[in-house]
Amino acid sequence: MRKPFVAGNWKMNTDTHTSVDLSKRIATGSSDVAGHSVTIAVCPPFTYLQSVTKALSASHIAVGAQDVYFESNGAFTGEISPFMLKDIGCTYVLCGHSERRHVIGETDDLINKKVTAAIAGGLLPILCVGELLSERDAGQTEQVVSQQLKKGLAGLSYEKASAVAIAYEPVWAIGTGRTATPQQAQEVHDFIRMLLAQMYDDQLTDEIRILYGGSAKPDNAEDLMSQDDVDGLLVGGASLNADDFLSIIRAAV
Ligand code: PGA
Repeated sequence: MRKPFVAGNWKMNTDTHTSVDLSKRIATGSSDVAGHSVTIAVCPPFTYLQSVTKALSASHIAVGAQDVYFESNGAFTGEISPFMLKDIGCTYVLCGHSERRHVIGETDDLINKKVTAAIAGGLLPILCVGELLSERDAGQTEQVVSQQLKKGLAGLSYEKASAVAIAYEPVWAIGTGRTATPQQAQEVHDFIRMLLAQMYDDQLTDEIRILYGGSAKPDNAEDLMSQDDVDGLLVGGASLNADDFLSIIRAAV
């Protein structure tokens, strides 16, 4: 039985005060379920990771970073290593978010290095995959998702891959208000689980959590989560509002 997993991706939002305030409100509102009934994580910008980990230290809410570099230290101006994230109390890290793929230009090879380094550094990666609207319209969803998944996990043993959660985020649904239907999400999640079964074995396939992301909101969270292979939600916009994020957490329990 996979425990539901709800993660908030704050993207390039919040400030010193609002990041801490939002964290505290989420912790207070979810204290009866956090950790045991549902895994909860928030992913603030790098600059607020430390104050958010402090604010959440007495809670069961984990903290994740939105990106990481694959080297452990050295002359890499502007980059942050897995060691540094672990050092300040991060548990998770997003790898290959579509905004990093399509705005910053990250490749599958770079993302694979990040996933591998994150695991080696003791972090739990959330590997994001998903097709553009043009790719869906051209009937290429499975091809795109398959390539991103296989390249993202390339070279990882079963033990290492079991540290990873997958987030299926169709790019056309991110920040657009146009959510995938529960059936569209289920179809791709089922396909991802089938690919994992080909790459690894049944145990990993049963255990690994596959989150949906893309305009997840309080009013669609329950329908999305009711699908067999939707194990959680990666929430962008709605995770910046404590009440909305808490409603989504409730819908997942
Ligand atoms: P959204 O973002 O919920 O605002 O669509 C999701 C994400 O990009 O992770």
